[in-house]
Amino acid sequence: MLHDKIMQEKLANLKKNFVDELQNVSNLLDLDKFEQKFFSRKSGEITLLMKSLKEVSAEKRKELGKLANDAKKELQELLDAKVFGLKNKDKDKLAETEAIDVTQPKLPKHLGGHLHPITIIQNKLEDLFTSMGFEVEDGPELESDYYNFSAMNIPEDHPARDMQDTFYVKDHSNWVMRTHTSSMQVRSMQKRDTPMRVVIPGRCFRNEATDPRHEHTFYQLEGFVVDKNVSLGDMKGVLEATVKHLYGKNSKIRLRPKFYPFVEPGVNGEVSCFLCMSKGCRVCKNTGWLEIFGAGMIHPSVLKEGNINPDIYQGFAFGFGLNRLVMLKYNIEDIRNFQSGDLRFLNQF
Ligand code: DAH
Repeated sequence: MLHDKIMQEKLANLKKNFVDELQNVSNLLDLDKFEQKFFSRKSGEITLLMKSLKEVSAEKRKELGKLANDAKKELQELLDAKVFGLKNKDKDKLAETEAIDVTQPKLPKHLGGHLHPITIIQNKLEDLFTSMGFEVEDGPELESDYYNFSAMNIPEDHPARDMQDTFYVKDHSNWVMRTHTSSMQVRSMQKRDTPMRVVIPGRCFRNEATDPRHEHTFYQLEGFVVDKNVSLGDMKGVLEATVKHLYGKNSKIRLRPKFYPFVEPGVNGEVSCFLCMSKGCRVCKNTGWLEIFGAGMIHPSVLKEGNINPDIYQGFAFGFGLNRLVMLKYNIEDIRNFQSGDLRFLNQF
């Protein structure tokens, strides 16, 4: 039999330990351990004490039982208060770290980011062409030999392939990094119904020894129209509007014959030199003209690859080098600046 006095002592000790230990608990994790220690249903100190009541004599059991129950309630209340206190302490801490610090100096409004000059000119051209009813399309940079060359009337072993030396993919000789955005012409034709007007801006690659005028990675914008009764005159009209949009309404264009395998006839397009007003300068090499695009009437065999009957439909196509357009507009001497990531260059735009 447990003596009731011993039982009372045990209870008093437990209460004291409980209060002392609770004072030292400073976070919710420790509080959890503490709760287990005293209240765990299997081995908690309070639980064990309640169980030992059985061993007290019958006449004292009731009285002691009440004492123990009151103590348990009291300790539970202390524990609840501690939980509440700790939770709110964490909340206060959170509020402290998340609060707006009104004394912090204002951040600069402009953080210095802006569009790359190539993107600026590309956006400008996309705006113009969509206003003329063209769709804008994207295409793959890793392209099949077929779409990049063969479909564009540049068969294998044809000398015209030498004009555009490319990067081939190791062990996959049918795949190349596209050398021009013209690679998208036949792809676009194959998935559209006639008539169609499409522009395709994008990145191109050539196996070049780089110098101030040549870079292995550069940007183009290809465009083409397929319809009935399309003429070289329509082509000239569209390209003249483009050049005026870029370089001012007094700009003129000049077309001179040039061979490109995918057009017939093919032309080399020039704009009157806006740097010297056609008087002749270093940039236009004293000719008064600047070469800025290639163009021509789409070759019948290209139309055929695009599932278009060349006896019914005609089309014209053109390709601009975006790097060159920007270089001329801002008088940039070295094409390698574009890919350099040099902020002294980029921050000028
Ligand atoms: N693809 C040619 C190049 O990269 C540019 C070009 C010339 C595109 C004539 C055309 C065109 O659409 O008709 O040099």
